[in-house]
Amino acid sequence: MQQAPHIRKSLLQWFQEEARDLPWRKSQDPYHIWLSEILLQQTRVDQGLPYYERFLVALPTLPALAAASEDEVLKLWEGLGYYTRARNLHKAARQVMEQHHGSLPESAEILQLLPGVGRYTAGAIASIAFNERVPVVDGNVKRVLPRLFNIAMPIGESATEKKLWAIADALVPESAPGDFNQSMMELGARICTPRKPDCDSCPVFSE
Ligand code: ADE
Repeated sequence: MQQAPHIRKSLLQWFQEEARDLPWRKSQDPYHIWLSEILLQQTRVDQGLPYYERFLVALPTLPALAAASEDEVLKLWEGLGYYTRARNLHKAARQVMEQHHGSLPESAEILQLLPGVGRYTAGAIASIAFNERVPVVDGNVKRVLPRLFNIAMPIGESATEKKLWAIADALVPESAPGDFNQSMMELGARICTPRKPDCDSCPVFSE
C-alpha cells in the first residue's frame, strides 16, 4: 500500500506528541489494559475514567477480580450501563485463572475466546499489552479509514467489514502496533469526528 509509510509515520508522531494522558497508557499491566478496553467499548473516556480508578482500587489484580463476587463487580459498574460487560469481565477473569494460570493470553486469537472480547478488543489488548502486530477496527476506525483513503463504503455490509480489516491490517506496523492502533482510534475520537471533522488539524493531511 503506497500511502502506508506516510500514514504510519504521521499518526505515530501525532500520537507521541498529542495523545491524551490516560492512566492505562502509563501501565504495562495487561489486566489494566484489558479493563480499559472493556470500559471503552461503550463508554467515553471522560465518563469511564473514574470507574477505571475505582475498579482498580477495589480489585487491583486479575486474581482479585476472579475471587470477587459478581455482586461486587456489578456494584463497581453501577451507573455505566451495558452490565453484560461487567459480568463477562468477571467470567473471563475466572476463565483465565482456570485455563491460563492467571495470566491473560498474549495473542489476539486466544484472547477472543474470552467472554466479552471480540475481534476489535482482542486486537487492542494484544497490540497494546503484548506488541502483537494485529489490527483494530472499532467504530472510530470504520469512519477514519474510508476518509483517509477517500473511498465510499456501504456501512454495515460484510464486504465492507472485510475490506476495512484488510486495510487496517496492511497499515499496522511491526514496531509500536499498539500506539498505531490507538492513534487511529484517537484520531476518530478527537479530530476525524462524525460531524464537523477538524480536517485542518489532521496529522495525515498536514504539510
Ligand atoms: N477506544 C477504545 N480503546 C481505545 C484506546 N486504547 N485509545 C483510544 N481510544 C480507544
